[in-house]
Amino acid sequence: MKILITGGGGFIGSFLAEQLSKNHNVVVLDHGKRYRILKKKIKKNIEFVIGDISDEKILDRIFKKNIEVVIHLAGSLGNNACMNNPVDAVLSHVHGTHLLIKKSRECQST
Ligand SMILES: NC(=O)c1ccc[n+]([C@@H]2O[C@H](COP(=O)([O-])OP(=O)(O)OC[C@H]3O[C@@H](n4cnc5c(N)ncnc54)[C@H](O)[C@@H]3O)[C@@H](O)[C@H]2O)c1
Repeated sequence: MKILITGGGGFIGSFLAEQLSKNHNVVVLDHGKRYRILKKKIKKNIEFVIGDISDEKILDRIFKKNIEVVIHLAGSLGNNACMNNPVDAVLSHVHGTHLLIKKSRECQST
């Protein structure tokens, strides 16, 4: 299967990407701070995309790759991160998630 993992560079997402890439094609979308380490660990069946889930152009590019499954893990962890930067938190969690659902539905109907 072709699987998109948002937040695939994070704690949970990177473990998932490593495991799923053994049997599936995985695309990870993340801000990419840990990609350098991950690229050394995961070498096949994986594409690392640097970007934000609230960027519609990046989502369009990714969904052209015939994504079949979306695992949505991108987000700011914990209350403090959200309270320290509420605008980013709303952009990611509300707008970004809404866009992701919209693009998934469009992809499903084509
Ligand atoms: N770790 C836990 O114990 C736990 C428990 C319950 C729920 N969760 C939830 O699971 C998800 C993943 O948790 P984690 O521990 O892997 O967190 P993490 O912080 O390690 O990973 C989140 C990743 O999302 C990326 N990210 C954040 N906003 C983004 C955006 N707008 N666009 C693209 N990438 C973005 C970050 O760069 C980061 O790599 C989070 O939503 C978290 O709230 C985690």
